[in-house]
Amino acid sequence: MPTLALTIRPAKLADVPAMHALIGQWAERKLMLPRPTSELYETVRDFVIAEAEPGGLVGCAALHIDTDKIAELKSLAVAEAAHGLGVGRRLVEWCGAEAARIGLERMFCLTYQVDFFTKLGFTKVDRSRLPEKVWGECVRCHRFLDCDETAMWTAV
Ligand SMILES: CC(C)(COP(=O)(O)OP(=O)(O)OC[C@H]1O[C@@H](n2cnc3c(N)ncnc32)[C@H](O)[C@@H]1OP(=O)(O)O)[C@@H](O)C(=O)NCCC(=O)NCCS
Repeated sequence: MPTLALTIRPAKLADVPAMHALIGQWAERKLMLPRPTSELYETVRDFVIAEAEPGGLVGCAALHIDTDKIAELKSLAVAEAAHGLGVGRRLVEWCGAEAARIGLERMFCLTYQVDFFTKLGFTKVDRSRLPEKVWGECVRCHRFLDCDETAMWTAV
């Protein structure tokens, strides 16, 4: 497998336009939810980015705390040209380490990428185990009644 000189670091406000463009590319293909720029600025402290040398921003992910025990891994996106180089894995592992550092027990995601997350140690979980997510955010989503994403979680 080719290697990539990668830096994984917390996002800065200056990263928002590139994060918005990257997430938007996948949202257009209906693989993830779009995130308005305003939301990215408001939640920038949740985000971590992967920066390649050379190449700039090639990936991002967010860790959003839901309760004192669990956080959601959100907005995981890797640039198509960098797929299969371990960027997604590094971002998820960084979020897992950060979740453990601050004292969380688990992280979860809602995803179409079941095989990818299974490789990273996630297992499927019934949404009824994630009431804060479902009744706090999903209920406002236009796909609430016909959501076809899979809920998965892992201990951190
Ligand atoms: C899913 C995604 C984040 C994976 O990122 P990536 O950097 O290509 O993944 P990695 O290179 O870190 O892969 C880690 C492992 O998962 C495997 N993998 C990667 N994508 C996979 C997929 N779609 N299905 C199954 N396995 C996959 C890799 O082969 C690798 O396995 P290995 O460790 O045995 O070699 C990326 O394809 C992406 O951005 N997709 C579009 C947006 C999206 O769906 N985001 C998820 C929202 S929840």
